[in-house]
Amino acid sequence: MRHVSVTVVAHPLAEHLLTQLRDRDTPPPVFRTLAKRLALAITFEAIRDLPTEEVKIETPLEPTTGRVLADTLVAVPILRAGLGMLEAVTELFPEVAVGYIGLERDEASLLPQSYYRKLPEVAGRHVLVLDPMLATGGSGAAACAAVKEGGPASVRFVCVVSAPEGIGKMQVEHPDVPIFTAAVDRQLNDRGYILPGLGDFGDRLFGTE
Ligand code: PRP
Ligand code: URA
Repeated sequence: MRHVSVTVVAHPLAEHLLTQLRDRDTPPPVFRTLAKRLALAITFEAIRDLPTEEVKIETPLEPTTGRVLADTLVAVPILRAGLGMLEAVTELFPEVAVGYIGLERDEASLLPQSYYRKLPEVAGRHVLVLDPMLATGGSGAAACAAVKEGGPASVRFVCVVSAPEGIGKMQVEHPDVPIFTAAVDRQLNDRGYILPGLGDFGDRLFGTE
């Protein structure tokens, strides 16, 4: 059986940023800044094995060769909370194509309800699905399924906090989609929130608590 790959970004800066994000006293403006910085650190890890190709360039002193990314990336934030990670990716890769998937968990069933989907051409391209919280995994799994319909070269799931339950769901439905996260937390509570977690990411990002 293929096992889903889970990479926990174990970097002191990532830990520092995550601890501040978890703190209930961190207000939305600071939360947004921290989320973007942490997304940058996790994205660095997520793109570690992307293909590069050799190009010839000239420095001010002489010709040489270097390597550049071989393909254009696609980033797909899951609305709303994934928007808090998007700017990190667009700043790193100004050429990135961006698609959007709108999903909202039903509070009772915890199942994701789809309300929006706008994806660019993903055939043969490498896709980063962005969603800070992998809780039951329903939203992440649904987004990856939607992206796969377009025949991408690869899909990577980039999140901030993940729960064992969500990783289990990805293991069953998308064992080929590696997960990059800053933490694997203990468990979900009876309302599907990650413990210890950081609360409702979307609400904290947009000040809608
Ligand atoms: C949150 C979060 C994920 C989802 C994770 O979104 O941003 O998309 O829950 O939970 P799951 O793994 O159990 O599916 P939410 O539905 O609260 O919407 P929002 O981003 O608009 O706040
Ligand atoms: N969505 C969130 O924003 N937080 C959780 O803990 C679980 C799902």
